[in-house]
Amino acid sequence: MPLKKIRYHLKRQCGRVLNAVLRSAPVRSCLRTLRTERFVLFKYDQLAGEKIAKYQRRVSGQAPAAPTVKDHQRTTVDPGEVVNLRHDHVAEKILRPLLDSNHAVLEMGAGELTTLVPMARRLADLHLRFSAVDLSWSRVAHGSLFARESGVTIDRVGVGNALHLPFADNSFDLVYTSHCLEQIPLDLSRAAAELCRVSKKWVVCMEPSYELGHPAQRRRMREKHYARRLDKVFERLGYRLLRHELLPFDLSPDNRSALYLVDVTGAEAANNPQWACPHCRSGLHSMEHYLLCRDCGLVYPVLGGIPCLSPDNGIVASQYSELLPRLEQA
Ligand SMILES: C[S@@+](CC[C@H](N)C(=O)[O-])C[C@H]1O[C@@H](n2cnc3c(N)ncnc32)[C@H](O)[C@@H]1O
Repeated sequence: MPLKKIRYHLKRQCGRVLNAVLRSAPVRSCLRTLRTERFVLFKYDQLAGEKIAKYQRRVSGQAPAAPTVKDHQRTTVDPGEVVNLRHDHVAEKILRPLLDSNHAVLEMGAGELTTLVPMARRLADLHLRFSAVDLSWSRVAHGSLFARESGVTIDRVGVGNALHLPFADNSFDLVYTSHCLEQIPLDLSRAAAELCRVSKKWVVCMEPSYELGHPAQRRRMREKHYARRLDKVFERLGYRLLRHELLPFDLSPDNRSALYLVDVTGAEAANNPQWACPHCRSGLHSMEHYLLCRDCGLVYPVLGGIPCLSPDNGIVASQYSELLPRLEQA
């Protein structure tokens, strides 16, 4: 057989074996525990809506008493009480001292907006401009409806990836996360760097803590393959933590979050929050149901008013704006 043919057959066989290995149950379960981006996206998109229902049951006092953490003490109380105390603490003791009237704030990994909406309510007197981004369309779509039903205005709600945020540098006065970075163990450093890139002043992360957690929490974080040692990540990026402490209120005694407060000041040029191409960060040209990046020739869909700006949402269609009117005429 000629060498070329042998090479061709070898390549095909290798491809088949690799495919079979990747699809096998043990490898699939390993990928799941590795918390890959695809696993996280499918998991959260499928459970969209559940978090709002849970939140409403809790704050209306319909959830049964459960083990929680109140004032750093493990106790069994109505979880709605702890949720409200935690939101009061985050709004008044963490965010408010960092903000001024009309500041722009982003929640990265906002899910169904069950943290952002209570924050917007508590800080309403500051007239803040809120934006929310998450990997899952279904979650932010539920979140938009929840905000609307709660009478809260969120300026910008979109799909985006923490590793390629769809905003120009220094677009927000404050960027925060609440239990989002825990889901990005494989790229924690890159996600943290992105948060610092789009903020002109403050980055606030409220994430489960390995370094401040007790042994059972550390074991749980290892088993669930949660991201660990965010303190070291910021340090390696060259930032000093201004606050690094456990939050006094938590729903789960074995999943306590810590506050990581970082001052990223140093921005020369500040930008206003506006959607940008996640690849090249240029501004996007808005068309009906689409956003177009003229520099990359990529078109991003807008589904139900929600821009989809994860890097892989972009469709290569550099001539879209010229061809669409002609196609529609036909
Ligand atoms: C545990 S939920 C927390 C949601 C919300 N922050 C809250 O306080 O309820 C984690 C969220 O992070 C989002 N997420 C995970 N990885 C992400 C990524 N790479 N980019 C954007 N969002 C991500 C998930 O889709 C999910 O909605």
